[in-house]
Amino acid sequence: MAKSGEQPNYFLRDVQKLRGEAQKSISSGAVTSDYKDAKRSVELLQGALATEIVCVLRYTMNSISVSGMTSKSVAAEFAEHADDERDHMHRIAERIDQLGGIPNFDPKDLASRSATEYGGHDLTLAQMVEQNLVAERIAIEHYRDLIGYFKDRDPSTRAMLEEILADEEDHATDMLDLMEG
Ligand SMILES: [Fe+2]
Ligand SMILES: [Fe+2]
Repeated sequence: MAKSGEQPNYFLRDVQKLRGEAQKSISSGAVTSDYKDAKRSVELLQGALATEIVCVLRYTMNSISVSGMTSKSVAAEFAEHADDERDHMHRIAERIDQLGGIPNFDPKDLASRSATEYGGHDLTLAQMVEQNLVAERIAIEHYRDLIGYFKDRDPSTRAMLEEILADEEDHATDMLDLMEG
């Protein structure tokens, strides 16, 4: 508490300095002077972006290639996951842009930038489900690592990744249910 006659301090740091810093390099947008290593953040998010693109491709391919009456509900599940992965892809790409990077959608070397694999063609339904479960489990660990990295250094990116992680956990559970059902 402020002593009587003393002005309370509403801020955690020198607000004049903060105002000065904010006016400098305004072309950096959301990346302020206290942001540590935006380049590394962008690099790490490019890996997550590639992973999501590969997941969109795999689930889309799977949703189209499953056939037969019994696979209708599985196809719908794959398609729903493909939509979720597309949403993740978008969110990560937007964040890369906010951090001053250019989201890498180049198909060249896409597989080598992704944590998960595209997988094989000509798979049975059971193999597809298993392949997706493996991919989701990789994505879950990958996101946990990234959340640990962004923790306090970039709470917005961390919050976004936490939401994505929760979706990937749902996806893994869906695939396990299909496997067991
Ligand atoms: Fe995803
Ligand atoms: Fe997923």
